Amino acid sequence: MLAPLLTADQIQSRVAELAKEIRSVYRDEPILLIVVLKGSYVFAADLARAIGEPVEIDFVQLSSYGNGKQASGIVQIRKDADISCEGRHVLVVEDIVDSGATLKHLRELLSTRRPKTLQVVSLLSKPKARQVDVPIEFLGFEVPNEFVVGYGLDFAEKYRSLPYVAILRED
Ligand code: IMP
Ligand code: MG
Repeated sequence: MLAPLLTADQIQSRVAELAKEIRSVYRDEPILLIVVLKGSYVFAADLARAIGEPVEIDFVQLSSYGNGKQASGIVQIRKDADISCEGRHVLVVEDIVDSGATLKHLRELLSTRRPKTLQVVSLLSKPKARQVDVPIEFLGFEVPNEFVVGYGLDFAEKYRSLPYVAILRED
């Protein structure tokens, strides 16, 4: 059962606000968005257009949840970025921060690549699920500690194309 949590309108207006915040920090400097596949692709597409030029976009894919709701605990890079982080303003684009393990690992990895700055924007965060402390400089919404889908987020590859975010409940 899907229990709607954030409407498409709520998401769109928050994305516009986040883009404004981000532009006010970086001004007219180029930003390299490092988009974490696959869940962040919808958010990244809307956010990149709201942020506007100059912006570069690249993608990384990490292993995390496999095909279910359980984290494997092991974070590995499946696809690395093509554009070099060195000397660039790197902004990681995440869909959701749950335990924090994935983001912590990615921050540590990217910081070794000598970016000019390194910050994170995440659409969602589940503060009650956090197991490792990790900064999120720009955050869309805090959500309850439940499994959510839609707007790019999946359960076993389903529900990514929903324009809204919903809680997925068994029954
Ligand atoms: P973490 O390492 O536990 O913070 O999990 C990070 C990744 O797990 C996120 O970037 C998502 O791709 C995925 N994930 C965590 N919670 C959810 C959820 O509620 N729905 C869908 N994917 C999730
Ligand atoms: Mg993700």
